[in-house]
Amino acid sequence: MTNNTVYLNGQYLPLSEAKISVLDRGFLFGDGIYEVIPSYFGRLFHFQEHMERLENSLAAIRLANPHSREQWFDILNPLLDGNQDQYIYLQITRGAAPKRDHAFPENTPPTVFAMCSPIVPLAERDTGIKVVTMPDTRWKLCNAKAITLLANILHRQSAIDQHCAEAILVKDGYITEGAASNVFAVIDGVLMTPPKSNEILPGITRDVILEIAQNNDIPCKEENFNLVALLSASEIWITSSTREIIPVIECDGQLIGDGNPGPLWHRMNQLFQANKQSLV
Ligand code: PDD
Repeated sequence: MTNNTVYLNGQYLPLSEAKISVLDRGFLFGDGIYEVIPSYFGRLFHFQEHMERLENSLAAIRLANPHSREQWFDILNPLLDGNQDQYIYLQITRGAAPKRDHAFPENTPPTVFAMCSPIVPLAERDTGIKVVTMPDTRWKLCNAKAITLLANILHRQSAIDQHCAEAILVKDGYITEGAASNVFAVIDGVLMTPPKSNEILPGITRDVILEIAQNNDIPCKEENFNLVALLSASEIWITSSTREIIPVIECDGQLIGDGNPGPLWHRMNQLFQANKQSLV
């Protein structure tokens, strides 16, 4: 399908014809969840894992899943074009009720929307980015991929205002994650990332990296670490489905390692690219 074809509530439409009600609870309350699923060579990457997270997000906000995994696959696949790397954005809200009321509406079908966009690699993907740390002001349901992203947006913009590409968030002295990414750090030769909890989104890229590390005898630990440990790291990476693994060369104005992407990043990036190819 052409790049501006989107899916809305059972129909494939040109983007310009896809319309939702102003009473949609996604619009009024941010009452919904989403998924971002990359596709390489026309194939959805780790589709089952993304579906599992979608199911968990829906359960966390007590919204029934409108489709089976097979149905989701059939809905999303026609949006893909095998000629380029892309990602699917899929959003489900609690639908448009006749009036605005915080309580869940009855007999209201969810709104289901999906679109597909090209993955455009970050210009600094191979040279590294600058990041800045800041207190994590988010809520206690960060494990659900909720569309309610105001805190994340404010964190990201604050980083950009400081000429950095990402914010690294700190809660109770410990690193949680990025505004829209997970965080890895190489500390004393060990690849570290915070453990899964309600304080972070369980990133699918994060899980792929941990699996690659285990399969290649790269020492790794899912353990909390604080800001002092982060700043002492020889390497820092941020990871996400749309940006893959991005090396960090400066954090809070301090060089990380020698200020270039580190050797483990080079190795992991190669292994990750090979992993993408192997799943085709
Ligand atoms: N965000 N943590 C947060 C808060 C995120 O928003 C994301 C991704 C991740 C990484 O998860 P994954 O590896 O599954 O993409 C971690 C997506 C890309 C977004 O909001 O557009």
